[in-house]
Order: sequence, then C-alpha cells, then structure tokens
Amino acid sequence: MKKSRAAAPSSRAASLIERLRRENRELREWRRRLSLLLEYGKKISVKKELDSLLHLLVEESKRVLRADRSTVFLLDKQANELWARVASGDALIRVPANKGIVGEAVSTGNVIIIPDAYADRRFNPEVDRSTGYRTRNLLTAPMRNNRGEIIGAFQVLNKTRGNFDAEDAEILLIFAEQAATAVENAQLYDEVRAAARDSIFRLAAAAEYKDKDTRNHLERMSHYSAILAEEMGMPHNWVQNIQLASPMHDIGKLGVPDAILKKPGKLEPPERQEIMKHPEYGAEILKNSDNELIQMSERVARSHHEKWDGTGYPLGLKGEQIPIEGRIVALADVFDALTSRRCYKPAFSMQETLHIIREGSGKHFDPKCVDTFFRALPRLVKVMEDFMDEPTAENAETPKEAPLNGEPPLPSETPLPKIRLV
Ligand code: C2E
Ligand code: SIN
Ligand code: FE
Repeated sequence: MKKSRAAAPSSRAASLIERLRRENRELREWRRRLSLLLEYGKKISVKKELDSLLHLLVEESKRVLRADRSTVFLLDKQANELWARVASGDALIRVPANKGIVGEAVSTGNVIIIPDAYADRRFNPEVDRSTGYRTRNLLTAPMRNNRGEIIGAFQVLNKTRGNFDAEDAEILLIFAEQAATAVENAQLYDEVRAAARDSIFRLAAAAEYKDKDTRNHLERMSHYSAILAEEMGMPHNWVQNIQLASPMHDIGKLGVPDAILKKPGKLEPPERQEIMKHPEYGAEILKNSDNELIQMSERVARSHHEKWDGTGYPLGLKGEQIPIEGRIVALADVFDALTSRRCYKPAFSMQETLHIIREGSGKHFDPKCVDTFFRALPRLVKVMEDFMDEPTAENAETPKEAPLNGEPPLPSETPLPKIRLV
C-alpha cells in the first residue's frame, strides 16, 4: 500500500521529467536548425555561380536535416527533364520531369516523405543499382521560386537517425524555397557571363582573323592571364574579369593594314610604327564603357605593350604606373607569341622561351609576374597543351629554323615532360 502510493507520484514525475527532457531535446534541435537556416540564407545569397551554389546547397541541407545524401534536381523545361549532379562526383544524371518521386514532387508541388524506400512502389531501385548506394528513406520537396513556379526539387536521403517526419518536411520546404531564388539568380548570372564570353570571343576573333591566328590563341591568352592573376592572389571576381578582358588585348589590330600584319619577314621601321598604334586603336574601340569588364579590357588593350623599365609603347609607362592587368597580359602575350609560330617567326623551344622571359624580368616584365609565371608553369603548360594549334595548310609548312619534330630534348632540370610546340 505504502509502496504503491509512493510509486504512483514518482512514476508521474518520471514521465513528466521524461517529457520535459524530450521537449528540451526537440527545442534544442529546432534552435540548431533555425540558426543553421539563418546562416544558410546568408551564405547562399553571396554565391553567384551555379556550380558552387549547388555544392553549398547539398552540404547545408545534409547538415540541417541530418541526412546522409542530398541531391538538387533542376528542371530543364525544353527537354522536360530534371538534371542533377550526383553525390560527390561530377557525373550528371537526367531523368524525365514527370516520372518517379522527384517527378511527382515537381508536377504536384507536394512534399513526399518515404520512410521505407524499398516498400514504396514509386521508388525506382535502378538508381541505387547504378550508384551502388542503398537508399533507406527519403524526403523530397519541390523548389518554388518567388513567382510560385516550380523550378526543380530538393531530395535528401537516409536520415542518420530514424525517419524523416513532418517537421523535416517543413524545414526542407523552406530550404528549397530559398534555394530556388538563389539558383535562379545564379542561372541568370551564368547566362549573362556566357553571353558576354561569346560576344567577346567573336569580337576578338574578328581581329585575329586578319592576323590568321586561331581561336586557340585567344583561349590560351585567356587562361594564361587568369592563372597568373589567380596565383598572384587577385580576388575571384577580378580573375574572372581578366579571363574575359585578355582575349581583347589585340582588338586594335583591326585598324592595322593586313599587308603589315601578314608580312612574312621583319618589319621596316614605318611598318613597325604602324603596328605600334594597335594599343591605342584598341583602347579607342573599348573606351567610355560603364561596364567594369570593358573598362578593364580598355586598360589591357592600351597597356599590354608597356614595359616595366619604361621602354614600351604607346606611353612609355614605367613599373607600377602600368596597370597590373596590363603587366599580366604582357607576360601572357609574349609567352604565347614565343611558344607559337607566327607568320614572321618560328615557334621557339620551351628552353629559349623561358630564358627570354627570365631575362626580361625587371626589364620588359614586372618581376613579381615573372616569379608567379615560373611558379605557375605546370598549369600554364597544361593550357598550352590543351589548346595547341592544329597544323593548317598555312602553318604546317616547316620553317627552316624550327623543324617540327626536331625539338632539342629538354634538359633534365626542366620540369616539363611532354611539350611539343608546333
Ligand atoms: P605578337 O606576334 O602577338 O607578339 C607580341 C609580343 O611578343 C611582341 O610585341 C614581342 O614583345 C613578343 N615577341 C614576339 N616575337 C618575339 C621574338 O621573336 N623575340 C622576342 N624576344 N619577343 C617576341 P611587339 O614586338 O611589340 O610586336 C607587336 C605585334 O607586332 C606582334 O604581335 C606582331 O603582330 C607584330 N610584329 C612584331 N614584329 C613583327 C615582324 O617582324 N613581322 C611582322 N609581320 N609582324 C611583327
Ligand atoms: C633560364 O634561362 O633562366 C631558364 C631557361 C631554362 O632553364 O630552360
Ligand atoms: Fe599586342
């Protein structure tokens, strides 16, 4: 009797304590999630590029929802397909937009909770079979932009403890909505950049066409300049700008007569005078833009033949008077001119090229750029190999000075195993 009277209140107390503990745990979990969600909102709003944004979305959603995997599917309206980068790899998967669980989330706008994947006939085990992954449970939410249109779906797999519940569904929905806005912004940004890149390369190619150089030359210039800028620690956005500004450095050659540009041999002094106008012609074409990228292109066009010691043209600027983008492109330009065949010169060997560049440090080139150049050499050489000029009828003819297959072997201290310059 005594015992049972004592037992009743204490078991009530125990269950009350148990309930309080549970509620406390739940509160703590909500607080964790809310603070992660707030952080997440800030983080994703600064990601401008789609690929890095998607990566961030995957990582953050795994953290907030305590899920083992996460996939962002984006709707490709034209193909009526959903595409995603799967797991950690870069592989792209594409699925029909109206099939499967993701398709259902996208077409109905519902959140779908599946506690046991293999017991649900909507689940397609093919995906597991192809990835070698074992899905236990999954939660899928549509991604709605702020106009209410569904642009994709967010899917998280395998909650680390237990199953996804209605609260997880709410969280994922909030998460997916914020993601939708960020994704749309990034897509827009990528499109604008792609359009700019396309126009720039076409414009620059018009000038190169006169000069009989190739698209590859522009690609190399673009990558060399970006690599140098990046290795010099310039900010990401600046690196992206120089990547697009550098191919326009010689746009002013549009104003130089073909007879001079294409002259097979050495230039007479008056011809040289004429060519030396191309930086100013280029700057003239690009001047007065409100756009920061075109403004950088103007500086590059005007200053890429200035020399560190003040003996360059058109202004004879010295040292840091020369804009840094001009100093970087000057080095990239000469590296490319030396390692390529031009109508007036053969391609030089890597050894000769490196010698000329090292000799030019503090004279033609900014010594900091030259140091960076040698540090970045393996990356530069990779670009050179990736964008090697195809031999054409015009340039295949072997110049006397540089036999195509007769490059002298590189000395062993040169860390460049497979270079073949055409
Ligand atoms: P480019 O062919 O793109 O060359 C760019 C820069 O690379 C040159 O600027 C120069 O600094 C460097 N470079 C090119 N070839 C050599 C070389 O054999 N040795 C050394 N040490 N550096 C070299 P530069 O001299 O102001 O020339 C500007 C542009 O004028 C050249 O652009 C090219 O289009 C034209 N050009 C220069 N020299 C000749 C030439 O003898 N004949 C013809 N037809 N065009 C020339
Ligand atoms: C240099 O001449 O300083 C470097 C060139 C080379 O070693 O190939
Ligand atoms: Fe030039």
